[in-house]
Amino acid sequence: MNAKRLMGAAAATAMALGLAACAGGGAGSTTDESAGPADTSAATGDVLVGVAMPTETSERWIADGNAVEAGLQDLGYQVDLQYAGDDIPTQAQQIDTMILNGADVLIIAAIDGTALTAQLQAAADAGIPVISYDRLIRDSGNVDFYVTFDNYKVGVQQATSLLVGLGILNEDGTEGDATGPFNVELFAGSLDDNNAYFFWNGAIDTLQPYFDDGTLVVPSGQMDIEQAATLRWQQETAQKRMEDLLTANYSSGTQVDGVLSPYDGLSRGIITALQNAGYAGTVADGFPVVTGQDAEIASVKFIADGVQFATIFKDTRKLAAQSITVAEAYLSGAEPEANDTTTYDNGVKVVPSYLLESDIVYADNITSLLVDSGYWTADEVASGVAG
Ligand code: BGC
Repeated sequence: MNAKRLMGAAAATAMALGLAACAGGGAGSTTDESAGPADTSAATGDVLVGVAMPTETSERWIADGNAVEAGLQDLGYQVDLQYAGDDIPTQAQQIDTMILNGADVLIIAAIDGTALTAQLQAAADAGIPVISYDRLIRDSGNVDFYVTFDNYKVGVQQATSLLVGLGILNEDGTEGDATGPFNVELFAGSLDDNNAYFFWNGAIDTLQPYFDDGTLVVPSGQMDIEQAATLRWQQETAQKRMEDLLTANYSSGTQVDGVLSPYDGLSRGIITALQNAGYAGTVADGFPVVTGQDAEIASVKFIADGVQFATIFKDTRKLAAQSITVAEAYLSGAEPEANDTTTYDNGVKVVPSYLLESDIVYADNITSLLVDSGYWTADEVASGVAG
């Protein structure tokens, strides 16, 4: 039935969608002068898009959810946006409900990429296309498309920012003056999130030559992803692990020089642990170089203040817009355009993907990357608080 409704809606919406789709600047942007989308609500109004997001404890997912919802609503679609509080059964149940309610397309950012096989089977049986959002859903042939960033490159960028902070590289990629040896510790994300492996592999491949020649040393010896992992990307878990690492390996005067962190929430936990252990001031004064990801506002302020060294900016507005472009393709009976058809094997199939680019944020490009693009205002950066 859903498949039929999809095709029916397609003819009615194709013309109207053209206008809005051209905007392309980012979901969540207003439709202002364009009368097209507003006029389509009668035609598209019975099309329902289910949007499943993992958690509201991280700003990025709130921004993602809001941008996807607003962009779809601008086009006249009904949207069922749900957050699952990082609880796997809750997310499974939310998706079950979306299917029962007759969703025509599902956009899913999974908590555990392997836990949704039954839901995806039900979606496939009902003819509902499934778009995996940011995180790859694994172990199912019923994932139709994947929109994400170049996650391996995000890891390369995280490691690069660590090397820049230590002075081993310059921001322009040329060799810096520092030779080390530097003491670093390594953190990884949640191992039920496929992205965690891509970030880690990109980072470790970049750092490996410096481990090999002794420029970088890991005093704890914890260099496996399993040892570095942080279940559910929890800030407190990272803080606790950093405290334990400091107690076990740095109590006799050895100093930490840098910490590879794959997410700003973890970075803030790590920074708290370092501060509680007596590290103070800014990176310029010798505070350890801590990396990050997501350009969360509290961390952007830390970067502006010189406390956190860098983060990775993944523009959630662009990801949201891309997911909507893909949803529109399915709604009009077309195949969405992929720009990567080799990288993301989910264990059953290689999922056609659209990868976006990310940027390293340092103190000196906060304005050009984040403020000029309207992601954060100068006031938000100054206060460290959104809104
Ligand atoms: C996302 C990151 C995010 C992390 C924790 C990953 O899947 O790609 O942007 O930092 O989850 O929420």
